Amino acid sequence: MDGKSVCVIVVLSFLCHSALATSTMKGAYWPSWSVDYLPPSAIEASYYTHLYYAFLTPNNVTFKFEVDDATALLLVNFTSAVRAKNPTVKTLFSVGGANDGPAYFSRMASTGWSRKSFIDSSIEVARKFGFDGVDLDWEFPQTPGDMVNFGVLIQEWRAEVKKEAKASYKPQLLLAAATYYSANGNFTGIPVKYPGASISKNLDWINAMNYDYYGKWTPNATGSHAALFDLTGNLSTSYGLKSWIKAGVPRRKVIMGLPLYGKTWSLKDPEVSGLGAPAMGIGPGPDGILTYFEIGNHNLANKATVTYDAATVSTYSVAGSTWIGYDDIVSITVKIGYAQSLRIGGYFFWALNGDHNWSISRTASQLWI
Ligand SMILES: *[C@@H]1O[C@H](CO)[C@@H](O)[C@H](O)[C@H]1NC(C)=O
Ligand SMILES: *[C@@H]1O[C@H](CO)[C@@H](O)[C@H](O)[C@H]1NC(C)=O
Ligand SMILES: *[C@@H]1O[C@H](CO)[C@@H](O)[C@H](O)[C@H]1NC(C)=O
Ligand SMILES: *[C@@H]1O[C@H](CO)[C@@H](O)[C@H](O)[C@H]1NC(C)=O
Ligand SMILES: *[C@@H]1O[C@H](CO)[C@@H](O)[C@H](O)[C@H]1NC(C)=O
Ligand SMILES: *[C@@H]1O[C@H](CO)[C@@H](O)[C@H](O)[C@H]1NC(C)=O
Repeated sequence: MDGKSVCVIVVLSFLCHSALATSTMKGAYWPSWSVDYLPPSAIEASYYTHLYYAFLTPNNVTFKFEVDDATALLLVNFTSAVRAKNPTVKTLFSVGGANDGPAYFSRMASTGWSRKSFIDSSIEVARKFGFDGVDLDWEFPQTPGDMVNFGVLIQEWRAEVKKEAKASYKPQLLLAAATYYSANGNFTGIPVKYPGASISKNLDWINAMNYDYYGKWTPNATGSHAALFDLTGNLSTSYGLKSWIKAGVPRRKVIMGLPLYGKTWSLKDPEVSGLGAPAMGIGPGPDGILTYFEIGNHNLANKATVTYDAATVSTYSVAGSTWIGYDDIVSITVKIGYAQSLRIGGYFFWALNGDHNWSISRTASQLWI
C-alpha cells in the first residue's frame, strides 16, 4: 500500500469515526414472541439506528447459548430482514430480560470460568447469525458483589471482542447493557452503584430503563411509570439520566429508555383520578400492562379522557374506573427535547411491537436529527 492510500484510509476512518460519535442513537427492542403478528420483515427499520433481538438466554449450568433450529432461523431472518430495509442499521441480540432472575446472572458473573464460557459463546452466536453486537440485560445486579462482578465481566468481554476482531479482521462487536433507570440502586436494603469507570471504558453505551417506576407492586395508587420529573422524590427519568452522567459515564453513552406501553389501575373513586389517586388494584392487562397500541384502541372504544401532565411530563387516560399512565406523542416529544438538552446519546424503545402504525417511532426519528 502506498503512502497516499494509507492517508486516504486514515482520513476516511477519522471522518467515519466522528460521524459515528455524533450521530443519534435511535434504538428499539423486537420481542421475538411478537413474530406472529410482527415478523422481522414487517419492522420499519428505517426509523431506527439500532435494533435488538429480545431475548436469548444461555444454559444455566454451562452458561453457553444453545440455539435450536427454529431460533437459528429466526435470528438469521431478523438480522437479514432489518438490514434489507435499512442497510446501516446495527443489530444486537439481547441477553436475559425481566424474566431471567438476577440470581442467574449473579452466578454467571461470579467465577472466571462461567464468565469465559458466556463471553466466548456470545461472540460465537453474534458472528454466526450476523449480529453487530450483544446487549446484556441483567435485571439487575443487586449487591455490591454483583456490581463488582458486572464490572469485571464487561472488562473481560471487551478484551475478548478486541482479540476476536483482530483475529477475524471484522469490526469489533458492539457491547451494550440495559440497566436500571439510575446508576444507583437499593434493591436489597444495601445501596449499590453501577461501576461507572468500567462501564465508560468497556461498554459502547447503556440503555437506561427509564420506566416501571410504578406497577403491580404499588397497587393502591395510580402512578406515572415513566415520568420525566418526580415532584417529591427521585423516581424519574431526569433523575436517572443525570445519575448516569454523575457516575462518570460519557453523555453520548447514556441512552434514554422510552416505553411503548402503559400501566393500568382500577380507581377507587372515578371522580378522584389524578396522579397518585387511590386505586383498588391493577388492571386491565396482564400484570396491569397494556401496549401503546392497545391503549389507543381502549381509549377510542371507551371514549377515555386523555390528560397530559406538564409538571411530570406524562400522559394518562381515564375511562370509568380504568386509569392508564403511559407516554404518547406529546410526552415523548418533550422527553426527547430534554434528552437533547442533556446532550446524551439518544433513546431506545421497549418495545417496538407496542407502537401504533409506527407513529411514535416515526415522530421520534424526525425530532432528533
Ligand atoms: C436451570 O434450569 C432448569 C430448567 O429450567 C431448572 O430446572 C433448574 O432449576 C435451573 N438450575 C438452576 C441452578 O437455576
Ligand atoms: C423471513 O421469514 C419470512 C417468513 O417468515 C420470509 O417471508 C422472509 O423472506 C424471510 N426473510 C429473510 C431475509 O430471510
Ligand atoms: C435502602 O433501603 C433500606 C431498606 O429499605 C433503607 O432502610 C435505607 O434507608 C435505604 N438507603 C438509602 C440510601 O436509600
Ligand atoms: C394496599 O391496600 C391494602 C388494603 O388496604 C393493604 O392490605 C395492602 O398492604 C396495600 N398494599 C400496598 C403495597 O401498599
Ligand atoms: C434523591 O437523590 C438525591 C441525590 O442522590 C438525595 O440527596 C436525596 O435524598 C434523594 N431524595 C429522595 C427523596 O430519596
Ligand atoms: C393505523 O392503524 C389502524 C388500525 O389500527 C388503521 O385503521 C389505520 O388505517 C392505520 N393508518 C393510519 C395512517 O392511521
